[in-house]
Amino acid sequence: MDLSNESDAIKPVADPATDYDLLDKSYVENPLPIWDDLRQRCPIAHTERWGGSWMPTRYKDVQALARKVPILSSLSNMAFDLPEGLNSDLLTGPKAGAPISADPPEQTWTRQALLPHFTRTAVETQRSFTEGVCENLIDSFIEDGRCDAASQYAEQLTPQVLIHILGLDKDAGAELTGWVNNLLDVGLEGTEWTRYWHLIRNFFAKEVQNRRAYPRNDFISALSQAKFGEELFPEEIVVGMCALQLVAGIDTTWSVISSAIWHFATHQIDRQRMVSDPSLWNSAVEEMLRFYSPVTAGRNALEETAYAGVIFQPGDKVLLNFPAANHDPEIFEDPHTVRLDREDNRHIAFGVGIHRCTGLHLARMEIQVALRAWFHRIPNFTIEDPEAVIWAGGGTRGPRCVPVLFT
Ligand code: HEM
Repeated sequence: MDLSNESDAIKPVADPATDYDLLDKSYVENPLPIWDDLRQRCPIAHTERWGGSWMPTRYKDVQALARKVPILSSLSNMAFDLPEGLNSDLLTGPKAGAPISADPPEQTWTRQALLPHFTRTAVETQRSFTEGVCENLIDSFIEDGRCDAASQYAEQLTPQVLIHILGLDKDAGAELTGWVNNLLDVGLEGTEWTRYWHLIRNFFAKEVQNRRAYPRNDFISALSQAKFGEELFPEEIVVGMCALQLVAGIDTTWSVISSAIWHFATHQIDRQRMVSDPSLWNSAVEEMLRFYSPVTAGRNALEETAYAGVIFQPGDKVLLNFPAANHDPEIFEDPHTVRLDREDNRHIAFGVGIHRCTGLHLARMEIQVALRAWFHRIPNFTIEDPEAVIWAGGGTRGPRCVPVLFT
């Protein structure tokens, strides 16, 4: 997202220890050597770019900093702060998208209201719908002998499942998904970003008002009727919670699905192994989540805080680089190798502490269903043109174009 200073995007990175750039092409395409370098000589790096931030790369530091609640606050959870002038309480804080953009106590009661909808059992009820969506998508391109596995498969799947879970009309859902996709576009200017955010909020405001008057048996109705003590949740909180499901659940999951298809298309031995031994899918999905973790979250220091030789000043942005932590050799043997049968895979792709992802069962189910369905129908595939593969970065990293040829 182009939220701050355009010149940040064109300055070459001098030294990642003092000038890292999550949007720099070399970081976006392959951050592994940068993380290795930083872990050894500057475990908590700093940059002035995009409003400035600090970035730990060791597993133990990411774990420790994620637990500094609320001194490291989630009110602005993004990897980049919004430029001054765009900030409002609908863009940061509990109304924006609790629980992710909230600290306790709001984080606690909003999270509690979400959890029952995303248990393993609740998610299982969506499996056959998800399988159907995958089959339809594959039907739409299999005869062509090629497709873009990102835009024609992964990016189509996850919004359809969420629209279904939320209980939204399919056509309205398609328009909504368009706005969310625009919002998630990393090239977007700050003012455009807020325009889409308000469109999405207005959409959900109408849905919530409607469900308060005429409750149905769906997710939005349940949140619309949720109470804190004797009081219904404020409407603006419910609107933010609904919007968050799309913003947090769409591109995160599609990034891992696209990364996995890219991985198997470029690592033929791994692809063949999955074809011949589908019992590996559980551990293989966890390994994809570890190796291709998409999410780096943000926090802001509320007060002066010393940690590992660094002093965060009030307002400083601190990035929780879960992907870098998942490649720490202190924790993971041979971290830069994909081991489809890796045991003891304590990855933190879904975060740690009080904000740990509420959608993790859904994400795991979607990734597994998407990859199994793909391998069932398209077991032999390769990258059509490696030069055409496009990776996107920022708070969520993953491939946005994966041109695949079925062989
Ligand atoms: C592979 C897919 C996914 C990944 C890697 C992922 C990752 C994460 C991470 C790292 C966090 C913690 C953020 C922080 O500490 O600030 C988080 C939180 C969250 N995620 Fe996910 N996520 C995924 C899918 C989903 C899905 C499918 C949903 C729901 C539809 C979802 C909903 C949420 C919510 C609501 C939170 C906030 C929880 C809280 O603050 O208490 N995520 N996710």
